[in-house]
Amino acid sequence: MISGSCFPAGDQQWSFSNGTKLNEEIVINALKSVKYPGYSRDIVSFGLVKQVAAGNGAVSVVVQLSGGNSQIAQQIKADCEKALQTLPDVRHVLVEVKQPAGQPAPVGADAWARQNKVPGIDRVVAVASGKGGVGKSTLSVNLACALKHLGAQVGLLDCDIYGPSIPLMMGIHQRPAISPEEKLVPPANHGVKLMSMGFLLEGDQPVIWRGPMIMKTIQQFIMQVDWGRLDYLLVDLPPGTGDAQLSLCQTVPLDGGVIVTTPQEASLGVVRKGIAMFEKVNVPILGIVENMSYFTAPHGERIEIFGHGGGQAEAQRRQIPFLGAIPLYTEIRIGGDRGVPVVVSHPDAPYGQAFIRVAEVLRQKLG
Ligand SMILES: Nc1ncnc2c1ncn2[C@@H]1O[C@H](COP(=O)(O)OP(=O)(O)OP(=O)(O)O)[C@@H](O)[C@H]1O
Ligand SMILES: [Mg+2]
Repeated sequence: MISGSCFPAGDQQWSFSNGTKLNEEIVINALKSVKYPGYSRDIVSFGLVKQVAAGNGAVSVVVQLSGGNSQIAQQIKADCEKALQTLPDVRHVLVEVKQPAGQPAPVGADAWARQNKVPGIDRVVAVASGKGGVGKSTLSVNLACALKHLGAQVGLLDCDIYGPSIPLMMGIHQRPAISPEEKLVPPANHGVKLMSMGFLLEGDQPVIWRGPMIMKTIQQFIMQVDWGRLDYLLVDLPPGTGDAQLSLCQTVPLDGGVIVTTPQEASLGVVRKGIAMFEKVNVPILGIVENMSYFTAPHGERIEIFGHGGGQAEAQRRQIPFLGAIPLYTEIRIGGDRGVPVVVSHPDAPYGQAFIRVAEVLRQKLG
């Protein structure tokens, strides 16, 4: 059994006191410009802002750190004050940065910062959608294999608590081993390492997870797994954009998010919800992928079953990048069912190429 706490309580909510909601929203938005020292993410998305009060020209904020480095605390305090003092109508700013009592200051770096850094993993990217069944997991596995095909070291993290399907799609049936250092060793296939909530389930038993259990397990999947060196860790989020998905986005140190939609769902707010979720936690949106975009009939005729271009149009409207369109193709489903993604079995076919092109665009965007 692995144990240990890795992250601050990212799922905790802010507590608002008096003042209008608008004022507090403005304060929180301003605090989103304050980065955790040494990180590209901000203190709000890391869940460190615990109290916000605003009214009558005064703003008061409480930030709770879980590490003991006073230099970091001072810098966060100064950056918060600077961000808040520039707000219109603000005359008094009070920022309190709390550190855990009695915790010895770690040597060299802040304990929290060390805990959050995932050693050896360059980029962590989530694949999400506002709706189930649009092909998130299909995209995750094929993208992972496509990035591998392009020469990268890749890991996949299946966070779907409701129906983890990635082990089946990747053809992985064994569970993780435990290393002598008591780390989980992820099983691999097609050159991609995998951790899945599915490894923790017995057969078809229904999954009853409480929020904190999920967060703890995911934290362990990131910090206590022997991932080795990875260029990319792709994270398949559970369907939807509610609280559970938001907490997951806060738990996993994400560098960016990809939103999947089908042409007809694009118009139904699926993309908008996905964007709103990533924005709430300040995770950069890398772009939209339109899945089941069109169907190619046996004689080569292109049939747009669900209409076409909804994802692209929505990307344009929202001014976020369009990463590509994936056709609806029987082989793609069969590949998933057989555990051999089409990118592995048919890398040169048009449908294999469609995934590889998305991987190329993504790689460019991630630098
Ligand atoms: N482009 C495609 N062509 C053919 N079949 C597809 C395609 N994309 C997905 N599918 C099939 O559609 C079904 C749903 O896809 P998938 O499981 O990837 O969706 P999901 O968004 O991860 O679903 P969930 O919300 O349940 O996690 C699967 O059977 C999959 O094989
Ligand atoms: Mg899925």
